[in-house]
Amino acid sequence: MEPEFIPAYQPKEGARRARELFEKTFSAAPSGVWRAPGRVNVIGEHTDYNGGKALPLALPHAIYVALKVREDDQLKIISEDFPELSILKLSDLEKHYPAKGPGAFVGGVILGLVQVLRDSGLEENARQLQARVPGLEVAVASSVPLSAGLSSSAALECAIAVGIDELADLGLAESFDGRKLLVAAGKLAENRYVGAPTGGLDQSASMLCEKDCVLELDCATWQTRSHPFDLPSLGLSLLVIDTCTSHDLADGQYGARRAACEEAARILGVSELGELVPETISPADNLTDLNADNYPPSWVCQQLDKLENAEQISRVRHVLTEIARCQLLCELLEAGAAPDQWRKLLDASHESLRRDYEVSCEELDTAVAAARKAGAYGARMTGGGFGGCAITLVDSDRVETTARAVVKAFNKAGYNQPRFLSVLPSAPAGKVE
Ligand code: GLA
Repeated sequence: MEPEFIPAYQPKEGARRARELFEKTFSAAPSGVWRAPGRVNVIGEHTDYNGGKALPLALPHAIYVALKVREDDQLKIISEDFPELSILKLSDLEKHYPAKGPGAFVGGVILGLVQVLRDSGLEENARQLQARVPGLEVAVASSVPLSAGLSSSAALECAIAVGIDELADLGLAESFDGRKLLVAAGKLAENRYVGAPTGGLDQSASMLCEKDCVLELDCATWQTRSHPFDLPSLGLSLLVIDTCTSHDLADGQYGARRAACEEAARILGVSELGELVPETISPADNLTDLNADNYPPSWVCQQLDKLENAEQISRVRHVLTEIARCQLLCELLEAGAAPDQWRKLLDASHESLRRDYEVSCEELDTAVAAARKAGAYGARMTGGGFGGCAITLVDSDRVETTARAVVKAFNKAGYNQPRFLSVLPSAPAGKVE
C-alpha cells in the first residue's frame, strides 16, 4: 500500500476554511483569523517538567481559529473535526474544572491569561481582557492530526491566546516576554482547566519557535535560543511517522511519570531533577550506548546510588541522561556538526524512553526500527509517548522509500496504517488575516 502523507494547509487556505466555517455557523463575519502550529521535539523528552532542556520545532501543520467576541459570557465553538456546536459558559468553567471538550481549552486560555496577568502584577490588563472578551465565538480548522502527540491541544490554546491578545488589545504577542505570558496561559489552561499535568514544552514551541530553526528551551529558567536547522541545505528531510495509535495525556500514565520524578527530586534534595545535571557535559561521558558498562556516566550513578526503588532509578536515569543528551545536541548544533555526528543521540533517546521511562509502545518501536533499517539518520518517538508519533531524519530523496519501509513493517505486524508528515520548521503563532 502507498504511504499516506498528511499535507499542511497553506496559511491562506487554513484561514479560508476557518472563516467559511465561522460564517456558515454564526451567520456573521469573524473579527480575524489566527494560526498556531503543532510541534515535534527533536530531543529532550519528559525533561520540561523536570527543569531540563528540550529542543522542539514548529510544524507547518497548524490550527486556524476564526474568532469574534460575544457580549455575554458564552463560548460557542465549532470545529471541522467535531462538527457539533459546543456551548459553555465561562463562569461555569471558572467554578467546575477540570472539564472535557474544546470549551475547556478555549475557556481555560481566557481564564488562564487573566490569572497569569494578575500573578504578574498586570491587574489593569487582566481587567481589560475580562471587559473586552467576556465570551467568544470560535471556528476551528486544523491540519494538525488530533491525538497524535503533535500538540494539537497546545496549538489550539496558542491560536486562541494570540487571538484574544489582539481582541483585547493587550499587545503581548508583539514581544518575546509577552509571548511567554501567553505560553503560561496555555499551560495553565491545560494543567488546571483540562486536567493534564503537562510541562509547557508544547505551548513554548508553538509560541516561540522560529521558522527554519529549532528552539533550545531551558525549562528551569524559560530562557530560549534558536539554532538554525536548515535541513534542505544538508539534503535532509524530517519525516514524522504517525503510528495512528491513541495517546491521551490526561489518562494517568503521564501524571504517574511526573509524580515519580517529583518524589525522586525530594529524596535527592533538589526542587527539580534538572538541577543535578552539570552545566557542561564531558565529551568522555557515555550517553548513547545504553548497554555499555560505563552507562550512565558517573555523575548519574552517584545520584542513582541514593535511590532504592528500581522503577524510580530507571525513571531518574532517563531524565538525567536525556537532559544531558539534549545539552550535547545543542552544543553540536552550535558547532555546526553534521547529523551523522549526532544521530546516535536520537537513537539513544528513544532507547532510554523505551527501556527506562517506559513510555514507548510496540508501534513506535517498530516505526523507529524500520526507519533506521531504511538508512535514517537516527529515529525516535517524540512527545509524551504511549502511542503518537516518531521522527526520523532522512536523505531528502529517501522520504518515500523510508515511509514505504515503515508501512511494510506495520502491515507485517498487523498494526493500523501509519500516516506521514514531511516537515520543515515553520513560523510561530500569529495572525493570518
Ligand atoms: C507532552 C507534554 C509536554 C512534555 C512532553 C514530553 O507533549 O505536553 O509538556 O512533557 O509530553 O517531553
